[in-house]
Amino acid sequence: MDRRNFIRSAATLAATSCTGGLAGCALTSSDTGMSTQLRSFALSSIAEDPGSALRLHGHWPADLQGTLFRNGPALFSRNGDSQDHLFDGDGMVHAYRIHAGEIRHHSRYVQTEKFIQEQQANRFLYSGSASVRAGSLPLRTNDTINMANTSLRKVGNKYFALWEGGSAYEIDPGTLATRSRHTLAPELEHAPFSAHPVQDTNGDTWNFGSLVNIGQAKTLLYQLGPNGKLKRTKLIDMDFAGYMHAFAISQNYIILLNTCCIHQAAETFIGGYTFHQDKASQFIFIDKNDLEVKYTIEVPANFVFHFGNAFEEKGTLFLSTSEYSNADIMLKGMALNTHHGLGAGYSTGKLVQYEFKLATGQYKKKSTAVDIEFPQYDLADPYHAQTLFGAGESGKKKDNIANALVAINPITQRDQTFSYAPGIIAEEPLLVRSKRHKHYIMQTFIDLTHRNGGIALFEPTRLAEGPIALATTKVPIPLGFHGCFVAS
Ligand SMILES: [Fe+2]
Repeated sequence: MDRRNFIRSAATLAATSCTGGLAGCALTSSDTGMSTQLRSFALSSIAEDPGSALRLHGHWPADLQGTLFRNGPALFSRNGDSQDHLFDGDGMVHAYRIHAGEIRHHSRYVQTEKFIQEQQANRFLYSGSASVRAGSLPLRTNDTINMANTSLRKVGNKYFALWEGGSAYEIDPGTLATRSRHTLAPELEHAPFSAHPVQDTNGDTWNFGSLVNIGQAKTLLYQLGPNGKLKRTKLIDMDFAGYMHAFAISQNYIILLNTCCIHQAAETFIGGYTFHQDKASQFIFIDKNDLEVKYTIEVPANFVFHFGNAFEEKGTLFLSTSEYSNADIMLKGMALNTHHGLGAGYSTGKLVQYEFKLATGQYKKKSTAVDIEFPQYDLADPYHAQTLFGAGESGKKKDNIANALVAINPITQRDQTFSYAPGIIAEEPLLVRSKRHKHYIMQTFIDLTHRNGGIALFEPTRLAEGPIALATTKVPIPLGFHGCFVAS
């Protein structure tokens, strides 16, 4: 079956208004009701999948086998009560096992302390990170409302379901059973460990934990060895309590962005943040050798969840970000119980490239009009200019609903886009390597109309031509955030 025909046969992705397959078929977001549909979909709690085969279309390369792990918030309602923010669903971990021409999916809720306690009570007992609940039980530790709902990553030989305000939960990669809350050292019990650890080229893993949510303008840095054991930590004092979700590394530096979305004590974690348009955000450059802050460079007010790669070349440090002009996306744009929330048209992340001259503190900021979130690069070879891949938005009406796979080189600004059909939400793509070291882009998507999901597989240099293979689930899949692919 040729590419066009198999795409046409893939009912979930067929777009009747589209000629020439899916390529170039923008989401016509007059798609009225799509935002409502998205909120309603996001709020519907999803059952665990004990194991089901996906429908395969097209040619899945024989040497691309392994498991795609994903994580995302999935349980938003209990006993008539619902959460009010996308961050507040209990985490569900997924495995898509790709083997011998078959892909099978299964999923399980992460058995956090909160999940177990609320499951037994058959009701929500706590306010969330943004949802206020009358009569909420008190928070005893950072892990009391840990939902472990943000990512699933392999660190050393362990698989972690990650959140950002507390500990990692270790997951059995074979059964997806939750093993235990993970503590790196006794003195670090309940310490925040972000959902965005970054593996360095020597096999070490760097991560940070923001102490902002416990009222301290401090960031805890972690360095773990290739075996996942803790090597070093360092507590960094910040000038103010800005929101930090992820970070970047270059050859010599750990790069934090203390955004001017600043926290003060409030009923909920997210409710405590205010974006200060008149203040500067701070890029903080920490030497990997001694973990000392070497440079702080202020930039005009901005907001960032995710970074592309960073690298140093001839005295310049290059860094790409998916950048927002304010924090509305988090403070308003992920609310679920209001039409002013998810899908209501808040600004989307644009690709921005910074070039820092660390010695002088000068920098250049090159903004683009390209919508991109979850930017990805070659994790095994990060320290050079390269094309970034992300979920993006195409079409004229901007509604903060990602419906495209986007590729852009931040230096040349050459870009490619593949737009999915209406009703499809594009999630985080991953740049993966097959056994024969061929690169592919693996992107999960959610089909709001059919309430299922799937994986689209692309050749990175030809992504505008559409996926070379598609796999769709027969079961409902919740929106997800992040994951990883482990080849076998
Ligand atoms: Fe993230």
